[in-house]
Amino acid sequence: MQLEWTETGEAFAGQAAARVASLLAETPDAAIALPTGSTPIGLYARLRAMEAAGELPLSHAHFFNLDEYVGVAPANRHSFAAFLRRHLLDEADIPAEHIRLLRGDAPDIEAEAAAHDAAVAARGGLDLAILGLGSNGHIAFNEPGAPWDAGTHVVPLTEATRMANAAYFPDGFQVPSHGLTMGIGMIRAARRVLLMVSGPAKAEALGALLAARPDPDWPVTALCGHPGLTVIADAALRGVR
Ligand code: GLP
Repeated sequence: MQLEWTETGEAFAGQAAARVASLLAETPDAAIALPTGSTPIGLYARLRAMEAAGELPLSHAHFFNLDEYVGVAPANRHSFAAFLRRHLLDEADIPAEHIRLLRGDAPDIEAEAAAHDAAVAARGGLDLAILGLGSNGHIAFNEPGAPWDAGTHVVPLTEATRMANAAYFPDGFQVPSHGLTMGIGMIRAARRVLLMVSGPAKAEALGALLAARPDPDWPVTALCGHPGLTVIADAALRGVR
């Protein structure tokens, strides 16, 4: 595992963007899974700026979302699909056929999950999974106790996760009871994983990873020993080690 501590938000986003740029320099048509949440917003701004400056072509890469709310259509602005379009995908030169976003409102949600897996498999698996971290150690929507060998599947969301996510929606949006998420098996199969950890609420979850003891109660510890894992974290969290 490579662990990088960053002192500022700029450095946090910049280091993450540099990781994406180095992958795309080697593998321009890389398959990349993208997270939502506040953590990657600076990264997305940096990628947009690099692309606009002609420093980072994104048009050959393929993008997938990690997770979505069940029952929420991609066009709904509360969806993770809409979030990713706003922050990155619609703001960069990326062909529509290079973007595969989960349809949370799909009439057959199991078929939608299988289609997501098939689309990733058609690209030869993920070259990079970019991840945020839940304060309870969740990655994507894989909550404590989630299986470590799964592909995309439907999961119940914990109350803690629903409350944390509701905080982003002052308009009273009711966070659904279920999510659709790439499973830990699929995330672990990614050739590279970039875990971004920011904010004091993540200290305990980061500590669980750094303790290097795989524990199903802390889904992030499924990444222990992953040969392509990079963790970029706030220097303020250094004490958790
Ligand atoms: C959500 C998402 C995760 C994300 C996490 C952390 O639950 N499903 O993919 O990593 O929140 O969000 P934030 O970066 O806002 O702390």
